[in-house]
Amino acid sequence: MGGILDICFLNGEYSDINSAKISVLDRGFIFGDAVYEVIPIYDGIVFGLEMHLQRLNRSLAAIRLEYTQSTDWWRERIYSLIQHNGGGAQVLYLQISRGAAPRAHEITEKASPTLFMFVTRPSESSSNGAAITAEDIRWDRCDIKSTSLLANVLLKTHAQDSGVMETLLFRGDLLTEGAASNVFVVIDNKICTPLANDYILAGVTRGLLIEALTANKTEILERDVSRAQFNEASEIWITSSSRDLVSITICDGKDVGNGEVGEVFKQAKSQYDELKKNLLEQEKAFLL
Ligand code: PDD
Repeated sequence: MGGILDICFLNGEYSDINSAKISVLDRGFIFGDAVYEVIPIYDGIVFGLEMHLQRLNRSLAAIRLEYTQSTDWWRERIYSLIQHNGGGAQVLYLQISRGAAPRAHEITEKASPTLFMFVTRPSESSSNGAAITAEDIRWDRCDIKSTSLLANVLLKTHAQDSGVMETLLFRGDLLTEGAASNVFVVIDNKICTPLANDYILAGVTRGLLIEALTANKTEILERDVSRAQFNEASEIWITSSSRDLVSITICDGKDVGNGEVGEVFKQAKSQYDELKKNLLEQEKAFLL
């Protein structure tokens, strides 16, 4: 994420991010008992809002946290936050924690959820970069977009220490995803990505890329990818809301394919960009 913007939203109030306060007993702080979303905003327009809200609702249900609001309710508050911060290109972070309660592991009805949202400017984007691989040391419910991200924090720092943009993860012999992204590989000219099961987060960008490829009759296989297949891949891509689509041209210090952004990537990106343009046009209608 890039530079943080001044005004945040906390439990219904817009205030300066440096003065917003929550209880030290908030279960988000004590247990990481919270879920979150990161949503890109292009030129003041929210991208993929419905998909992000659907995933948020899935995460909330998975952690048994009741928090139901309509899409309109969210839209009103999110656009207000964007405007409070001057519009333009932003990235929204929102999190809902179970709220403050005396510390006890068990879920309690006494806590009232804390909703916190802030926006940043997007970080410098690059359409290609380098990655390393590592063992996936996370838990077995990576499908929940939980703020308990200690393993991801360590894995992403491992990438930083190695001077690369992402750590790509293997659970045993199988590719899962990146520390903060989903992964696509091109093997024998076929685009493949690991199935969205409990071991990966079903990324909104991933879903939209699959939708764009499918709409263009480009074959996309959701299936296991072994280490041996990964090592033979002619292209590797990562996807996320904060970076969009990025081609990984160097992995573990070696060129991927010929070490340049691949042709399959370029075509997929143009199909994705077309869908993105249409979705942003549709979303614009809600602003009028
Ligand atoms: N991360 N997998 C993981 C583990 C992630 O953290 C993310 C995104 C993704 C991609 O999901 P999406 O396309 O919906 O952004 C996959 C966000 C950007 C973050 O934590 O900052």
